[in-house]
Amino acid sequence: MPENQRRRILSGMRPTGRLHLGNLVGALQNWIELQEQYECHYFVADWHMLTTHYAEVSELQSDIQEMVTDWLAAGLDPSKATFFIQSRLPEHAELHLLFSMIAPLGWLERVPSYKEQMDNLEGRDLNTYGFLGYPLLQAADILMYKADGVPVGEDQVPHVELTREIARRFNHLYRKVFPEPQALLTHAPRLPGTDGRKMSKSYGNAIFLSDPPAVVSKKVAGMMTDPARKRRWDKGNPDVCPVFDFHKIFSPPEVVERVNRECRTAEIGCVECKKLVTGQLNQFLAPIQNRRRQLEQNPEQVWQVLEEGTCKARQVAQATMQEARAAMNLTH
Ligand code: TRP
Ligand code: SF4
Repeated sequence: MPENQRRRILSGMRPTGRLHLGNLVGALQNWIELQEQYECHYFVADWHMLTTHYAEVSELQSDIQEMVTDWLAAGLDPSKATFFIQSRLPEHAELHLLFSMIAPLGWLERVPSYKEQMDNLEGRDLNTYGFLGYPLLQAADILMYKADGVPVGEDQVPHVELTREIARRFNHLYRKVFPEPQALLTHAPRLPGTDGRKMSKSYGNAIFLSDPPAVVSKKVAGMMTDPARKRRWDKGNPDVCPVFDFHKIFSPPEVVERVNRECRTAEIGCVECKKLVTGQLNQFLAPIQNRRRQLEQNPEQVWQVLEEGTCKARQVAQATMQEARAAMNLTH
C-alpha cells in the first residue's frame, strides 16, 4: 500500500443500545484514534443483530439511536469519518448473495464462533440460514469498501481471515476486484464488569457512558474487590481486584501507584479506593455526557449524520457492485 494514500478502515458494531465502558475501551477509543489518520467507515450492523436476535426487533431503531448518540458523544466525528446503517444499503445484501455462490459450506461451518455461539446463546434457535451466513455477510461489509484494515477484537479475527479467503476465491474465479484486508487487533486493556466477569450488558455488570454520577458511585461502591480482603485491616492484592483494573485505565499514574502500594499494606481501605476511582470516572464521563445531552435535545442530528454517511457509503458501494457484477458477467 503506498504511503501517501490514506488507508481505508472499516468496522461495524451491532446496535446494542447505550454503550458501556467495556465497549469504549474495547472498541470505541480505538475507532476514535483511527479516524485521525485513516479514511474510516463505521457502520451500525443491524442485519448482523438480526442473525441472532431476529425475534427481538421492537427496540431496534431506538437501540441504533442510543448507540450512535454514544458514538458521537464519545468523540467520533462526522467531519472525519463516515457513519452509516448497514440495512440502508441493499448493496451489502447483494454482495452477500454473490459471495454465497462461491463460499463452500465447510468454510462457514468451521468458523469458530459458529459452534461456540450456538452453544452459548442457549434459549435461541440459531439453526438458521442467516446465522450460518453471518461471517459471509461480514465479508461483504468489508470487501464492499475494499478496506485495508479492520479493527476488531480477537473473537472476530477468524471472520477477517474468512474475508481474505473469499476475496482470494473471487479474484481467482473471475478477476481481481477485492484487496485482502488485514485484521487490526485492538489491544484493549482488561476492563471487567462490577462483578469481575467480562463487562457485558446481559450480565448486568456494566457501567454505561450515560450513567449519571450517582449511579456510577453506587455501581462502584457495590463492586467486587479482592475477595481475601474482608476487613479494613486485611492486606489486599490489587492484582486480583477489578477496582484496580479501573484505576489502571482511568486514574493518573500517581493514584495507580498509591493504590498499588497502600492496598498491599492496608493503608488505604476499599471504600476510599473506590471513592477515588469514582471521582476519576465521573470526571472522565462528564464531557461525554455533556455532548450526549446536546445530542439528546435534537435526536434528528444523529439520524442526519447517518443519513449523510449512508449517502457517501452508497457511492462506494455502487461502484464496487458494478465491478463485482461485471466480473461475474452479470452486465450486458
Ligand atoms: N460481527 C461484528 C460483531 O459482531 C460486527 C461486524 C459486522 C463487523 N460487520 C463487520 C465488524 C465488518 C468489522 C467489520 O461485533
Ligand atoms: Fe481493590 Fe482498592 Fe480494595 Fe485494594 S483497596 S482490594 S485495589 S478496592
